[in-house]
Formats: sequence, structure tokens, C-alpha cells
Amino acid sequence: MRSASASAPGKFVVLGEHAVVYGKPAVALAIDRRFRCTVSESSRLLLNGVPDDLSLHPHMSNILKANGVGKISIVTESDLPSGSGLGSSAALSAALSCAVRTMLGKPADEKDVIGEAYDAEFGAQGIGSPMDTSASVHGGGIGVNIPCDGEPLWTIERNGNRWDVCDVHAPEMTFVVGYTGIKALTGPLVERVRRYKDRNSFAKDIVDEIGSVTLEGADALRRNDRVKLGKLMTADHKLLSILGVSGPELNRLVDAAAEYSYGAKLTGAGGGGSMIALTDRPEKVCETIRLHGGTPMIVNTGVPGVKAGKTS
Ligand code: MEV
Repeated sequence: MRSASASAPGKFVVLGEHAVVYGKPAVALAIDRRFRCTVSESSRLLLNGVPDDLSLHPHMSNILKANGVGKISIVTESDLPSGSGLGSSAALSAALSCAVRTMLGKPADEKDVIGEAYDAEFGAQGIGSPMDTSASVHGGGIGVNIPCDGEPLWTIERNGNRWDVCDVHAPEMTFVVGYTGIKALTGPLVERVRRYKDRNSFAKDIVDEIGSVTLEGADALRRNDRVKLGKLMTADHKLLSILGVSGPELNRLVDAAAEYSYGAKLTGAGGGGSMIALTDRPEKVCETIRLHGGTPMIVNTGVPGVKAGKTS
């Protein structure tokens, strides 16, 4: 009986979420929280040992379809709460694609996995950029549509948008994630921003402004200029709030973290999910996040992307 395992990291967005959907620049870093899965041949479709038709798991069914697999056992394990803004669905898509391809004896390097994993994400959500999937597949840090040293890792085009993805070679920095505990679905939030932007020229200007802030921030990140990067993160949070994707819980955590941070902002789709703070005082930030009702985690970056095999 053939079987294979793979894992992929979650991510947080340093700058540029939502605007990246329209081809604006963005920067995301992979984190030391992973999604793992093991697949094996089976006489029926099983998810975590239970028969399932995957109708509630479109990312998974899209990956199976892409590989012409129907009956299979999938066992999953994740350090990433779903709907937390930490890229759990992209990590799932990347890990499952890598595991299934490995089991079938197909090539499963990052360039083999990225297209399939992004198609699974896009198919499930109906909208979105390849940023989350790229961070999960490549690991480390990725920049989208920012000036690249050398060739991009890959270029993806869809619905008239183009995303050149490159490695940002981010220096070591400490970030604290604060999870609000509120699960938020990415698709509807992205769709809401799209409608706002299409109907309102002010919202379109805000999206453009996020693009400019992100370009400056990508440069500050590479130069390890924490003061500048932090200020730009806080500015980005204000712009995202104007687009309507923040909320009282996120704002409370962002404001609370400000005192001990270079900057703080929501990360990912918003509407709940998580915020991040760039800080030299992670313990203090964790304490204040806890006091304000969030769940803090100190995350490490610079982690590997998707890979076949078992990982702890
Ligand atoms: C979600 O992590 C990031 C968004 O920009 C959506 C996307 O890029 O597909 C909100």
C-alpha cells in the first residue's frame, strides 16, 4: 500500500494584504507552525479515519481532482487554527498536494506544488492572490510584485492580474501574533473589499496607498530598519481599517501592543483572525495581548516551505 507524508508552514502578512489581490505589492513570512498530512491508498475516501465526501473541504477535493485520485485516506494534523489569518488553508493545500504527488511518484518540489496548491485555494475561495500559497510553498519570506534580486521564483497570472513572487531574504526579527479567537472566512472578506473598491474611487485610492506603503516597507524590511517598518505596519492597519476589514477586537489588540512595539497591524483577511506586532519586547507584548483578551504567540520565521516526509 502506497503512502506519503508532507508538511507546510503557515504565514503572516507583514504588509499588503487585500491590495495584493489586485496585483499590488505584498510581503509575507512563513512561521514555525505547520500543517501536516499523511495520505495512503484506501478502498474508500477517509478523512482522519472517518468516511467523508469532502463536500465541506473544497481545497482537499480540488487537490484530489487535480491528481485523479478518488479513494484515499487523509490524516491531518495542524498547529494553525483555521480562520485565524495564519494561512491554514494555503498550508493544507500545499502539504496535501506534496503528499499526494509524492505518493503517486510525481515530482513534488516547490515549482511542482505551487500551481496545484494555488488552483485549489482559488477554486475553493473563488477569489484571491497566490501570496499565502507562495509563502507556504517556498517558506522563508516572499515578496509579491516588489523589486526582486534576480529572477522571480514564479509568476502567476489570473483574471488580468499578474503576481511576480520572489524571495525577500528577510533578516531575523521578532514578531508576536495575537489571535482574537474569532474565526473569519477569507473569501467573503476579500469579496467585500472588491465590491467596495469597484464602486468607490476613495476605496481604490486606499488600495493604491497600501501598495505604496508596502513598497516602502519591503525596502525597510530588507535594510532591517525596524522603526520605519513598524511605522508603515501601523499605517497599513489604518488603511485596512478604512477598507472595513478590521474590527473592535483587532483594534483593541493592535492599540494595546503599540506601547511595546515598533508597529502593529491586523494580518491576513481581517474581520477577526489575528494581528501582529514587531517588537524587541515580546514578553511584554504577549502579556498585554493576554490582558486584552487575545491569545499571543511568539513566532519564529526563516522556516522551510513545503516538504515531503514526516516533521514534528
Ligand atoms: C489573506 O491571507 C490575504 C488576502 O490578501 C487574500 C489573498 O491575498 O488572497 C486578504
